[in-house]
Amino acid sequence: MKKKIALTGDRPTGRLHIGHYVGSLKNRIELQHSFEQYIMVADAQALTDYSENPKKVIDNIIEVIADYIAVGIDQEMSTIFIQSQIPELPELTSYYMNLVSLSRVERNPTVKAEIALRNFEKNSVPTGFVCYPISQAADITAFKAEIVPVGEDQLPMIELCNEIVRKFNRIYKTNCLKEAKAYLSKSTRLVGIDGKAKASKSLNNAIFLSDSPEVIKEKVYAMYTDPNHIKVSDPGKVEGNVVFAYLDALYDEKEEIASLKSGYSKGGLGDMVLKALLNDVLQKLLRPIREKRFSLKKEDLLEICFSGTQKAKSVARRTLFDVKEAIGINFFDKIHQ
Ligand code: TRP
Repeated sequence: MKKKIALTGDRPTGRLHIGHYVGSLKNRIELQHSFEQYIMVADAQALTDYSENPKKVIDNIIEVIADYIAVGIDQEMSTIFIQSQIPELPELTSYYMNLVSLSRVERNPTVKAEIALRNFEKNSVPTGFVCYPISQAADITAFKAEIVPVGEDQLPMIELCNEIVRKFNRIYKTNCLKEAKAYLSKSTRLVGIDGKAKASKSLNNAIFLSDSPEVIKEKVYAMYTDPNHIKVSDPGKVEGNVVFAYLDALYDEKEEIASLKSGYSKGGLGDMVLKALLNDVLQKLLRPIREKRFSLKKEDLLEICFSGTQKAKSVARRTLFDVKEAIGINFFDKIHQ
């Protein structure tokens, strides 16, 4: 039986961290067995707000691919490719743009929140940025993805994508585009080590998959716990305590966690005991990933994304052919291959 197609992507604006591991990489390692999986390094999307600092995006492409391979994404099962090298994607985007009203793109809650976070100067939000959800619809439909494993913040993108699919198929009387479903990860988003909403590279509050053992330890010992838990004998708060949030996400001994939580809330359990445990858990998890990462050769990584991109391009080319055929503008490109 033909496997269903899954597609996801990451903007390469930094190395990947433990939040990515919990929220999406773990999922992808499992999904690659049951789906035909495409993983896109979304450099073109990252450029929609890094146009003046392309180096940051370019340098991180290879880092992100190294992170993928190091955690166990297998290039034989997953096609890893670079978005900017597939001109069929912006070409599809240009046709989809005609199907989406300006007010519709301005209404996207994720884009609105991102604009607020980025402190763009007034009236200086790049058009490419506001429109990236349309190009994301091109990413998804180009590969006829049925499943898009993402976090909740990406739901508005998939909703827009499906609106475009329905409108396209209706207007051009075709069924060449497929609707996609979000596949939400079961685990919740990992908070930053400072207790801020989200672990993120820009807030500098994340533990990276490539961090050294010393840096991991330093970050664990700097984690936000309960500012009112001063003496070991004081009762401590579990809720909002980053160490417990990480143990919940990463440590399989659920009974042990439950008893630590109850001990901590009663008082008598110090932060250092918890932090030592979490440090152990993280060191065990990250050591093999880091070792694999540093054993990877740059040429091999380049070869992986080169061949992945070739394969992805031929799939996108076929979809673009179908799209142009449906619109009626396939003047010269008659070969369906
Ligand atoms: N916008 C996604 C993010 O920030 C990245 C992305 C780009 C993506 N294209 C995609 C995700 C297509 C899923 C499908 O995480």
